[in-house]
Amino acid sequence: MAPLNVAMIGYGFMGKAHSNAFAQVGHFYPGVREVRRRVVCGRNRAGLEALARAWEWDEVETDWRHAVTRPDIDLVDICTPNYLHAEMAIAAAEAGKMVLCEKPLANNLAEAEAMAEAAARVPNFVWFNYRRVPAVVLARRLLEQGRLGRIYQYRAQYLQQWGPDPTRPRNWKMSKQTAGSGVNGDLNSHLIDTAMMLLGPIRELSATVETFLPEKADPANPGHTYRIDIDDAVLVQARFASGVLGSFEATRFATGYLNDNNFAVHGERGMLEFHFEDMNRIEYTDAGDDPEVRGRRKVVAPALGPPGDPHFWKTGHPIGYEHTFISSLADFLVGLESGDPARPTFEDGLAVQRVLEAVEASADQRRWVETGL
Ligand SMILES: NC(=O)c1ccc[n+]([C@@H]2O[C@H](COP(=O)([O-])OP(=O)(O)OC[C@H]3O[C@@H](n4cnc5c(N)ncnc54)[C@H](O)[C@@H]3O)[C@@H](O)[C@H]2O)c1
Repeated sequence: MAPLNVAMIGYGFMGKAHSNAFAQVGHFYPGVREVRRRVVCGRNRAGLEALARAWEWDEVETDWRHAVTRPDIDLVDICTPNYLHAEMAIAAAEAGKMVLCEKPLANNLAEAEAMAEAAARVPNFVWFNYRRVPAVVLARRLLEQGRLGRIYQYRAQYLQQWGPDPTRPRNWKMSKQTAGSGVNGDLNSHLIDTAMMLLGPIRELSATVETFLPEKADPANPGHTYRIDIDDAVLVQARFASGVLGSFEATRFATGYLNDNNFAVHGERGMLEFHFEDMNRIEYTDAGDDPEVRGRRKVVAPALGPPGDPHFWKTGHPIGYEHTFISSLADFLVGLESGDPARPTFEDGLAVQRVLEAVEASADQRRWVETGL
């Protein structure tokens, strides 16, 4: 079969993670359709050329609109700031291209709805890459097997610390216009996607958001400050449709934590706990163990893939952040061939966006709100 020609828009942090995934997927998943790094798009030609050299893209383009309509392009991959996702994804879908988009799907619910509608006509996928951490895959399998019995409670946190850092350059994540929200879209979106993958839809919630420093020093303009109109921290209590009680906490002001994306599931027969900073392991408690030895066991997550074909390395040989993107892409490519589309799709991204919107509404109105899911 002919290779899939990719146009990737954006060449920052995610541009690098995705370039690596496109380059590596065929090495670790040799059965999937070949992908070709055809063109990388952005606004700065010198920056684009540097990335294209490092990651072996055939060409660069400074006009994304042209790139997404090129007849030689099959798949458009969006790794730009959130406010650009809708315009780019809809243009790509209307041109008949497959569309992969970074999270959160959009700046707001209306945009996400328009994107899901436009992309319904083409294969589509959202890069909620934490779904593909092997320990998270194991947690999902154990829950599906009913190992924990009835689930009572789910607790999740996404903790970062860079919010108060006065040396941090001002960027698009610090403005509602370009990011849609602060930690709600940036970090809480990951928590909500993982939670709903594991335990189904969230029905209702009550939220509080906080902006600790409404004015920040601008390191590019010593002596000057700029105003912040996004949330620095968000606290959510929620009820899933299944009746499970949930709590979610996302913050950039958790001094002491670099990138701790964690969750715990508490059930009648046991408990599971995951921390991304220790991503190769999961903690498991079997409530049926003899009380004298009962406790949280740290279990090394098995390699993805069947025994003998572990995709990356054999169990016990740790993998990293980049592998979650390779596996996400592999899922998409496998889904393409099988006709059973890989999750998360734009519809899944839209469901997350409904929860994010409910968080904002609840915080504004200071009351519980239904998510509509
Ligand atoms: N899945 C994850 O773990 C994860 C992690 C970080 C970021 N993200 C998401 O990825 C997306 C990008 O984030 P990032 O951290 O890579 O940002 P970044 O600032 O590092 O890179 C953004 C890129 O978009 C380009 N860009 C900006 N405006 C553009 C325009 N008008 N036309 C073309 N290109 C333009 C910039 O030049 C840059 O290359 C965001 O949606 C973010 O939420 C996901």
